[in-house]
Amino acid sequence: MKKCISLLSCLFVSLIASAGAVKSPNGNIELKFSVDGKGRPVYEMTYKGREVVKPSHLGLVLAKDKHASKGLKETDLMEGFTLAKEETSTFDETWQPVWGETKDIRNQYNEYAATLSQPANNREILIRFRVYDDGIGFRYEFPQQKELNYFLIQEEMSEFAMAGDHMAWWLPGDYDTQEQVTQQTRISEIRSKMKEAVNWGNSSVAVFSPTGVQTSLQMKSADGLYINIHEAACLDYATMHLELVDAETRALTTQLGGGSNAYTPNPKPTGYPLPHPLTFVSHLTPDATGLKGAMQTPCETPWRTVMVSDDARDMLSSNLILNLNEPCKLEDTSWIHPTKYCGVWWEMIVGRGSWHYTNDFPSIHLDQIDWSKVTPNSTHKANNANVKRYIDFAAKNGLDQVLVEGWNVGWEDWANMWKRDVFDFVTPYPDFDIKMLNEYAHSKGVKILMHHETSSSTQNYERHLEDAFNLMNKYGYDAVKTGYVGDIIPRGDHHYSQSMNNHYLYVVKEAAKHHIMVNAHEATRPTGICRTYPNLVGNESARGTEYEAFGGSNPDHTCILPFTRLQGGPMDYTPGIFVTKLSEWSNNTSWARITIAGSLALYLTMYSPLQMAADLPENYEKFDDAFQFIRDVACDWDDSKYLEAEPGDYITVARKAKGTDNWFIGGKCDENGHSAVIKLDFLDKDKKYDCTIYADAKDAHYETNPQAYTITKKVVKAGQTLKLQEAPGGGLAISLIAK
Ligand code: NOJ
Ligand code: CA
Repeated sequence: MKKCISLLSCLFVSLIASAGAVKSPNGNIELKFSVDGKGRPVYEMTYKGREVVKPSHLGLVLAKDKHASKGLKETDLMEGFTLAKEETSTFDETWQPVWGETKDIRNQYNEYAATLSQPANNREILIRFRVYDDGIGFRYEFPQQKELNYFLIQEEMSEFAMAGDHMAWWLPGDYDTQEQVTQQTRISEIRSKMKEAVNWGNSSVAVFSPTGVQTSLQMKSADGLYINIHEAACLDYATMHLELVDAETRALTTQLGGGSNAYTPNPKPTGYPLPHPLTFVSHLTPDATGLKGAMQTPCETPWRTVMVSDDARDMLSSNLILNLNEPCKLEDTSWIHPTKYCGVWWEMIVGRGSWHYTNDFPSIHLDQIDWSKVTPNSTHKANNANVKRYIDFAAKNGLDQVLVEGWNVGWEDWANMWKRDVFDFVTPYPDFDIKMLNEYAHSKGVKILMHHETSSSTQNYERHLEDAFNLMNKYGYDAVKTGYVGDIIPRGDHHYSQSMNNHYLYVVKEAAKHHIMVNAHEATRPTGICRTYPNLVGNESARGTEYEAFGGSNPDHTCILPFTRLQGGPMDYTPGIFVTKLSEWSNNTSWARITIAGSLALYLTMYSPLQMAADLPENYEKFDDAFQFIRDVACDWDDSKYLEAEPGDYITVARKAKGTDNWFIGGKCDENGHSAVIKLDFLDKDKKYDCTIYADAKDAHYETNPQAYTITKKVVKAGQTLKLQEAPGGGLAISLIAK
């Protein structure tokens, strides 16, 4: 990565604000900090004079441990603090991501850092705030010191007191999955909607409270403020959820947490008063012991972020979370590249083929099977002929890679068996000739994309990792899709715990040594660490296109994800379903709630440097004129302009393809349709553009007529306006090629 080109200023000044308050560079956001009468840290935040976060406490409850006598400190970092020192500074730099939505990213903030001393325990901590034009970030820092060296966290107690009963787009707070349907309710309605919001049948569900929700949490106030709570740089720490204190919490108990038996038990901090209703309190993911973190100073927490604007488009164009992450740590990034791919995947997800090779055994032991002697089941899709068919399709259509799932032995009993030695990641099934297929692909300018499903057996994966990556290097793979289906093995741990977050990062760092890009499914939700490790090119961590084969997702789903899940980093959403009624080619009666024009739009509205064309080659061949857009569309950008946006309703974005004068526009809407008004004022004034518009036909509809689209060509120039109608559950896609 090219490091920052312009470090405009990075200096300590003491005059940008009075002690305890700091404003954003444009003055719209103000952050105030103080220590109250009990010595508890308190912050509050306003936007253009309007309350965003009302006075809210900060602190951590520490845990008792059998090693306490050896110096593990258990007294809480909650109260009894005095403000020992205040420092303010300003920062402004512009940096270039290895891949991204824009070529340059400006990182400009004013900083306020409070050093707090806790005289009773002879300790010092620091709370650092960064105030940007589009929000704030704050974190706790723990300098190394005699009285604070090792400690265990029982709970982090960062409060976010909301100023009203905002509309909220939320997912149930869960230690293991976020493959759930987003709920849109007022904050006060979270409790009553929780039970029906959870799909308890997911393969790994650990919902912890009737008022627990996940980050990123998007909200909108009655007077039109868009507010988003998330986190940045979650490294060596547990993923944060939010637990709402509502009127019932206060009436039922003086403690947070806990509901009926349906909820996964969670340790409850005791002894501190509850905040007022409409306050979210941080809730970390526990590890197998029930505790939330093992810390060694010097260390710090991730940044807790609150983004705010009165324009929804600012939520989508914000770089606050990337900016709060450390610059790139990889010396050489020349091998990292945005990638368009297809894959031997959708036909298994839909149920027409299998990952596994034989039906001979009720269960398998990897070291006891002679694979050359077993009976093939004829449904195994990662076979030489089928893989070659996808390679040919990729080569013909300019796709870079072909994902092949089910290539390696172990799929016969792969999921939810508490089985440790589930895969070895190096032994292909007999009908997958790894050498021949890679050579065949390379001869056509295509690569095979590796797949490592771990079944959440993390020790097993770490043991095999080096051999697995060496095999990839040997055959010329440069990207891996990993997967963490099912409960974590060894049992008791959770997908979003500190130990698991360390596992995901370990894999990313080891992969970098082998020049391998990583796309991790079911891993923790991203928090912008792709800035520091840009070989993390994608994550799933939400309900992806696969759910269109498992009962479907709502048409507004993709108009919410960019406001929530995508805040922390790109999603491998696997878009591009053209034959939406799956029964047309399989026994699956599920169907995708989207039109073909809407499917094209996702390549723009769901930003990712990794984009899949997920449907079958034969389905694309039926609509080759629409598939032209997928052939043409870029997946790396010099610039992006969010033109229209409203959470859950519609998103329209224009992006300029890297190193060219060409633009692509995508517009996606919910079940109500949308009249898009696209002002082409971002085009180069001196140029004309060949414009191709892929639009929903007049009678298109995601349910009744999803394959009705029109393709119109014309020449356009800067200053013109395009008015286009998107159908219910539809969208639009436009290419603008400079003449
Ligand atoms: C779940 C992933 O999301 C999906 O893409 C993959 O095919 C299966 N796990 C099997 O690994
Ligand atoms: Ca998944």
